[in-house]
This record gives sequence, structure tokens and C-alpha cells, in this order.
Amino acid sequence: MITVDQYDFQGKRALVRVDFNVPLNNDFEITDDTRIRAAVPTIKKILGDGGAVVLMSHLGRPKGGPEEKYSLKHLIKPLEAAFQVPVQFSPDCVGAEAVELASNLKPGEVLLLENLRFHKEEEQGNQNFAEKLSLLGDVYVNDAFGTAHRAHASTAIVADYFPHDKVCGYVMQAELDNAKRVLTYVDRPFTAIMGGAKISDKILVIEQLLDRVDNLIIGGGMSYTFAKAQGGSIGNSLLEEDKQQLTLDLLKKAEEKGVKIYLPVDSVIADAFDNNAHSDVVESGTIPNDWMGLDIGPETRKQFAEVVRNSKTILWNGPMGVFEFPNFAVGTKAIAEAVVDATKNHGAYSLIGGGDSAAAVTQMGHAHDVSYVSTGGGALLEYMEGKELPGVIALQVEETPLT
Ligand code: 3PG
Repeated sequence: MITVDQYDFQGKRALVRVDFNVPLNNDFEITDDTRIRAAVPTIKKILGDGGAVVLMSHLGRPKGGPEEKYSLKHLIKPLEAAFQVPVQFSPDCVGAEAVELASNLKPGEVLLLENLRFHKEEEQGNQNFAEKLSLLGDVYVNDAFGTAHRAHASTAIVADYFPHDKVCGYVMQAELDNAKRVLTYVDRPFTAIMGGAKISDKILVIEQLLDRVDNLIIGGGMSYTFAKAQGGSIGNSLLEEDKQQLTLDLLKKAEEKGVKIYLPVDSVIADAFDNNAHSDVVESGTIPNDWMGLDIGPETRKQFAEVVRNSKTILWNGPMGVFEFPNFAVGTKAIAEAVVDATKNHGAYSLIGGGDSAAAVTQMGHAHDVSYVSTGGGALLEYMEGKELPGVIALQVEETPLT
């Protein structure tokens, strides 16, 4: 793969696929700008070389046509602040106007294209659409690791139009390096912390990890399916009814492979799914009817934190509770603090998987206190499952045979 450092962008227009799929509030303000900040070094390198940048991204999941709430125009000001240069905007990502704006770009200038997913051809991986995108640059850069698991026109197809000028951005490179690090050489003990709502989203990655980790911590919504399968009462807590046998099989596999599994021993429960609901603490598997578990309990926090603090390699994906409710964020915060402590004070390597656990670490101001915070959610999980990512494969450059 050609890296950004190996490429001289002077006088070139770089068509850069970024993942600016960032969360916006009702006033269209960005609530977590991690993905934008992550893209800055690649953009600055291109501009610094004397190149121009054409940015393309998706935002949300529009239904194949324009939708105000998914317009990338909401990102113009934050991008100008991040890159410290004016950002021009093309109201369509393809077509005559986009071509004209892109061809008029001078070195040092930046053009942002409207949401790629306003055209259904993007997600279809349509070749004709990819060709139209390819007209907007002289060189293609993919820095969108978060979308690398999608075989879309802008991630997997457009690269074909730049056989000798397709470049792997800094974010993409760093993500692959960090993910490889936990898949290949690791210092032990290696602990994976898995949380979040659904076991079905993480089962494939958990199965892969059983061959690598020493400890597997399971918290968050998915832990209630384990508790129920083991004969506990979980009230109205999250349950994947049809995945109960799977959790038992997983526990058995872990035992066979000598992996130590840690499940919550107590739970913070609530009488409604509300930050201000009445709450209580009970032992796991003893949740009364009409109550639901929304966070790990104090004893679990202590146990999990102890395991994490004694680890030398840590992979964390998914919160321990409903951390967007401050009253039920205590467990997630305790884990974040233990990961930071292990990293800063005990020399552990820590990779925080994207999505909610990354948001939790960032919101707590700890993004620089861990080894790496991934910008990928699904992409990181698929990579960890051992799948090849279409966006990464597309960047392979064919070697010219020696004559
Ligand atoms: C993400 O946020 O995981 C990526 O931007 C991919 O988004 P998608 O799941 O809508 O394809």
C-alpha cells in the first residue's frame, strides 16, 4: 500500500474518502468530533505538499436521496476550525457543478462534497457512480477506516480508477497497525472487555478472541442474556431470548481454552428506562419483575477494575451500562479509569474500540491517556473477526513485475 508519507501531493487534487459520520444534536452541532480531529493530519499533509483536497463522506443512513438532517453542510464550520482553512461546498457529490468546483481548486484549497449516500448508487457500489466520483481528483486517498467494511462506490470501487495513485491515509494506517497489534504480538495477561447491548453483534469477535485472550470481561446489556441462560431472574433487562444457548456454549468454550470469564456479580437496577428512575443494587440473577439492570454494581466494578489493572494488553469494546444516563454511567467510568491506570501507571497497551466505549473515554477527557482510541465501530469488529475489509483490499497496489 502507498502511504501518505510516500506520496508527493504537490499540484494534485486529492479525492479523500473520510468517515465524517459524526453524531449531531438537534441543532446540527457535532457532539463527538473524534473522527474529524483524526482526519486533520492527512489533510494537512496534502495541503502542506501544495495539493488541494476534495473531501467525500457519508453521514447517517439516508434513504438514497437528500435529507436536511444528513447534509454535510452542517460540518463546514467545524471543518474550517479543524483545518484552519476555508472549506468550499458542493451541494451534490457528483455532476457538472462538483466537477467544476473540483477543477477550479487551487493548491491549499479544500472542497467538501455533499453526503455520498444521497445517491443510492453509493451503497450499491455502482461502477458508473464511482467513475463520476473519480473525475474529481488526480489521486485517491482512503482515510475512512470506520467505513472500510462497506463495499461501497467511494470505499471499494473508486480506487480502481487510480491504479497507481491510491493512497492509505494516516487514520487508516494507524487503525490497521493498532488492530494488528492485538491480533499478533501481545504482552500478557491480555484482557478483552466486551459490553454493549447485544451479544449477537459481538459473538464472532468474542469467538476469535477466545483463542487469544487470558481474561474476558462481559458487562453491559449483553450480560443479562448470560444471567438468564444460567437460570437467573433478569426482570425487564435486555434479553436476546434466542441467544441463551449460545452464551452457555461460549462459557464452555472459554473453559476448554483456559480463558477466565468475568460476568457481573451485581447490578444497578431501575424501575424505568430513565436517568431519574428509582434505583437499587441487587445480586446478579435476582432482578425483580418490572425492574431492569442498567449498570454493573459496585462489587462488579471492583472485580472488573482489578482484572483490568493487572493486565498488560487491553481491548475494550462496548459500555458497561446505559452510560448516556449519568446515573447509570458509573460502571463504564470505573472501567475507563482502570484502563487509564493500567496504561499510564503499569505500562499496559490499551485499544479502545469505536462507538460508545470510545465516546465514553473521550467524554471523560481520557482519549490521550489510553494507547489508541479507534474511529471504527463495525469496521474494527469485522477486522478483529478476521475478515478482509473491502476498503483496505481496494488500496492494494499491483506490483510491477521486474523486467
Ligand atoms: C460507522 O459509524 O460505523 C461507519 O461510519 C459506518 O456507518 P454505517 O454502519 O452506516 O455503514
